[in-house]
Amino acid sequence: MKTFRIAVLPGDGIGPEVTREAVGVLDAVASVADLRIETTEFPHGAEHYLKTGETFPQETIQGMRQYDAILLGAIGDPRIEVGKLERAIISGLRFGLDLYINLRPIKLFDAKLCPLKDKGPEHLDLVVVRENTEDLYTDMGGFFKKGTPDEVALQNMILTRKGADRLFRFSFDLARKRPRKKLTMIDKANAVRAFDLWTRAFAEIGHREYPDIERDHAYIDAACMWLVKNPEWFDTVVTSNVFGDIFTDLGAVLQGGMGLAASGNIHPGQVSMFEPIHGSAPKYAGKNVANPLAAILAVQMMLDFLGEERAARAVETAVRGALVEGEIPSANANNGLSTEQMGAIIRRRVKEAWA
Ligand SMILES: NC(=O)c1ccc[n+]([C@@H]2O[C@H](COP(=O)([O-])OP(=O)(O)OC[C@H]3O[C@@H](n4cnc5c(N)ncnc54)[C@H](O)[C@@H]3O)[C@@H](O)[C@H]2O)c1
Repeated sequence: MKTFRIAVLPGDGIGPEVTREAVGVLDAVASVADLRIETTEFPHGAEHYLKTGETFPQETIQGMRQYDAILLGAIGDPRIEVGKLERAIISGLRFGLDLYINLRPIKLFDAKLCPLKDKGPEHLDLVVVRENTEDLYTDMGGFFKKGTPDEVALQNMILTRKGADRLFRFSFDLARKRPRKKLTMIDKANAVRAFDLWTRAFAEIGHREYPDIERDHAYIDAACMWLVKNPEWFDTVVTSNVFGDIFTDLGAVLQGGMGLAASGNIHPGQVSMFEPIHGSAPKYAGKNVANPLAAILAVQMMLDFLGEERAARAVETAVRGALVEGEIPSANANNGLSTEQMGAIIRRRVKEAWA
């Protein structure tokens, strides 16, 4: 029997509620797929910080390397300084473990979930590769004369050739596995000169190493417009950290909502972290109404990453079936079912999908 050791960080707000259901689905699929899952829960987040003053120490981050994967719920609490825990825990894991790929499938399971007119599953099936360790998120910058009328705030945007090369190679490899064999790079090279580095790296790597992949390009402003108007134009997309952050939330709402969008923070071949893209949604916290499907699809991505493709497919089949057949009416919160009821539906369907 194969054993996987999973570090679980339920986090804040709705994080613990959706993570409980995601771990329940992981256990359900493990029982039919003959896998042993050993979970270790970490308490880090707002409550832990308020009690102990500890955010997320480097030793804990580096200690994650002994696990096969990490499952994160959500981080963020209105009682705590904006961004403090998000930077310590989410960015801490991304930078500390060098998780340079943020993988975001945007897949429409059923036309009724999409807010766009006349668009169905055949129009919305793309994968976004968001760069995850550079750009505006490196926290290089600061304040000068803070709190005075002469205040200056500076935040540096970092792009490196090494970062671009490894990002594009991952993206071209992914595009090669998909039927359309097309990779769209999204940037803002017309206004932000640093993207010239990306333009050259993309063309050189594509031309030399991936002549079989169609290279396509869009500026981020136009790309948002095209994603709404003609989402079928996109297949595999690669973009920067900040543009990817925004573009994938737009994608999430087109596929049905924040309750359905999952992501992988990946360093190929090393421990990687999987999470719903939503945050801690404080307004729903503790009410048993948040939708757990995004966290459950994060488990699906994790199983795929661990090489358990059949188990991953069973989870996706269960989620798709529940939505298409209307057993779960939507990816929203307060959809008539509790978080726990939705988890139970998927656990049952995972077993049916496996049989
Ligand atoms: N990766 C993360 O942990 C992460 C990501 C984004 C935001 N955050 C943090 O979360 C906190 C709240 O941020 P926010 O309000 O901007 O974003 P959010 O994603 O928490 O919530 C935005 C809205 O999305 C909807 N939503 C989110 N999760 C849902 C779910 N599971 N089911 C149904 N609907 C859902 C709700 O309408 C919610 O009000 C902040 O502290 C923020 O920094 C954390």
